[in-house]
Amino acid sequence: MKAMTYRGPYKIRVDEKPEPRIQHPNDAIVRVTRAAVCGSDLHLFHGMMPDTRIGHTFGHEIVGIVEEVGSSVETLNRGDRVMVPFNIYCGSCFFCSRGLFSNCHNVNPNATAVGGIYGYSHTTGGYDGGQAEFVRVPFADVGPSVIPDWLSSEDALMLTDAFSTGYFGAQLGDIAAGDTVVVFGAGPVGLAAARSAWFLGAGRVIVVDHIDYRLEKARTFAFAETIHLSEVADVVLALKKATGYLGADVVIDAVGAESDGSVVQHVTGAKLKMQGGSPVAVNWAIDSARKGGTVSVIGAYGPLGSAVRLGDVVNKGLTLRANQAPVKRQWPRLLEHIQQGLVSPSELLTHRFPLEHIAEAYHVFSSKLDDCIKPLLVVGEE
Ligand SMILES: NC(=O)c1ccc[n+]([C@@H]2O[C@H](COP(=O)([O-])OP(=O)(O)OC[C@H]3O[C@@H](n4cnc5c(N)ncnc54)[C@H](O)[C@@H]3O)[C@@H](O)[C@H]2O)c1
Ligand SMILES: [Zn+2]
Ligand SMILES: [Zn+2]
Repeated sequence: MKAMTYRGPYKIRVDEKPEPRIQHPNDAIVRVTRAAVCGSDLHLFHGMMPDTRIGHTFGHEIVGIVEEVGSSVETLNRGDRVMVPFNIYCGSCFFCSRGLFSNCHNVNPNATAVGGIYGYSHTTGGYDGGQAEFVRVPFADVGPSVIPDWLSSEDALMLTDAFSTGYFGAQLGDIAAGDTVVVFGAGPVGLAAARSAWFLGAGRVIVVDHIDYRLEKARTFAFAETIHLSEVADVVLALKKATGYLGADVVIDAVGAESDGSVVQHVTGAKLKMQGGSPVAVNWAIDSARKGGTVSVIGAYGPLGSAVRLGDVVNKGLTLRANQAPVKRQWPRLLEHIQQGLVSPSELLTHRFPLEHIAEAYHVFSSKLDDCIKPLLVVGEE
């Protein structure tokens, strides 16, 4: 089969690989029809994540048709159109039974903090991902769901990670009616978080970034006010001024390890890997939250410590919440919102590439070219 493979930092290509096979009775093999590239894939692409092996296939946003099921699979049949959450999880361990699907204890022999993720290096289990013609789906009765007939594959694809993760980021903010919510990062995840903040009762939503066309999308898609980083001398001060000098009730970091805004932090965090990523956005989030407020971190960081302002978290009495999103938990509510016509997550998909052109998809998305918000990969016939 054709599959994206990693060749080293900034180098990927499509190679021929053996088709995956059923390895366990509860596996399924899914023929991928649509996939996407996530901001998290960019961290891999840039060589940020440890133990990303040559030949690994990325891709954790997957929609496809069930090709084959193992002997114990009860909920899926060959031919079903399915959406596959980015998390791989057993569904029955201590953590899964508490809804912490992204922290499953049974699926990642290489770490205990995070569970399994498709195509996300050996630090999350070493599972090959779905930027390929076929993917093996472990725990097939647990993760994937059959896509309802009324839902487009592209909206479903956005629920496998980016949109559900943004919604989760807003949920972690514990938004009370009328709250002011600030979102750092106007990528697909930040835009989804900003849009979702309204669903959860926000009274005001402000998005911060330094890319014009993304801030434009924050205004049109997420109905947010915007702050352009290069148009203010000090973003924290600008946010203080915008909130009567109190700070925001809820601040969401949807930027993560490759945050811009400080050359020193970017070089030590993102380039030299002396810390688990540049902490600029999360520190700005901490500084711009009001005392007693909540900071929700959904941006991804490496496990190594970063120079995060923990003292300020303590002294301001902030609640700091974070996780990889357990996306299937968000599906029932989001399906309801989509069915009622309240949101169409696929509006964030701005570019389409055939799998063969995957290197171009990564390049355009990574360099924020051609007004790209998020690239869709057209892999196989629906
Ligand atoms: N927690 C999870 O489950 C989960 C799931 C998906 C993605 N993520 C993470 O979420 C983050 C965003 O993903 P994405 O797909 O939207 O990525 P993206 O790269 O498209 O978006 C990041 C945005 O942040 C902006 N930015 C950079 N520095 C900034 C700063 N200091 N202040 C404000 N904005 C800044 C960039 O210009 C860009 O628009 C990534 O770190 C990704 O790994 C986490
Ligand atoms: Zn992702
Ligand atoms: Zn589990």
